[in-house]
Amino acid sequence: MRIIIADGYEEMSNKAAAIVRSQVVLKPDCVLGMATGDTPRGMYKELIKMYENKEVDFSEVSVFNLDEYCTLSRENEHSYYYYMNHNFFRYINVKKGNTFIPNGTAEDIEEECRNYELQIKNRGGIDLQVLGIGANGHIGFNEPDINFEAETHLVELDETTIEYNSRFFSSKDEVPTTAISMGIKTIMQSRMLLLLANGESKADAIYKAVKGKICPEVPASIIQLHPNATIIIEKNAAKLLR
Ligand code: PGA
Repeated sequence: MRIIIADGYEEMSNKAAAIVRSQVVLKPDCVLGMATGDTPRGMYKELIKMYENKEVDFSEVSVFNLDEYCTLSRENEHSYYYYMNHNFFRYINVKKGNTFIPNGTAEDIEEECRNYELQIKNRGGIDLQVLGIGANGHIGFNEPDINFEAETHLVELDETTIEYNSRFFSSKDEVPTTAISMGIKTIMQSRMLLLLANGESKADAIYKAVKGKICPEVPASIIQLHPNATIIIEKNAAKLLR
């Protein structure tokens, strides 16, 4: 596992964008795994700038998102479908048919999960998966006590995640309690992982993920076993590592 400590959010974002760009330059038809939340916003902004400056071309790239809330329609501004379009896709030249986000309103969620796995496999697997980390150590929506063997599946959100994500909604009651998430197995099959962490609220989770024992109570700890994982940690999130 490579650990890069960044001096601030901007440095973390710029380094992450540089790694994504390198992946696309090396393999123009690569498959990227992407994350939502506050952490990667700066990375998306930087990638958009790179695209505008003609430093990167997404025309052959495929993108799979980690997760999506159940019950929210794609038009709902809190859905991750909306997030990806509004923060990234609409500014770059990725083809719509090459972007994949689980459908949280599918009638048959289990079938949707199976299809999602199949689509990832049909595209040759994920080359680079970007991850955030929850204060509770989750990656994607793989909450503590996860089964490390799971592929894309229906998850019940942890109370702490609902509380944390309620900042985007007008009340906590509006936060969906279930979601579709790539499983740990899906994530671990990616050829490279890039985990980003920003802010002091992530310091404990980062410490446990990097230095703690590998256990289902800290889902992110599994990345210690990944052969090609890079973690970019903004200095406040790295506080407990020194
Ligand atoms: P955040 O979420 O980037 O909004 O902090 C990260 C996560 O929950 O995985």
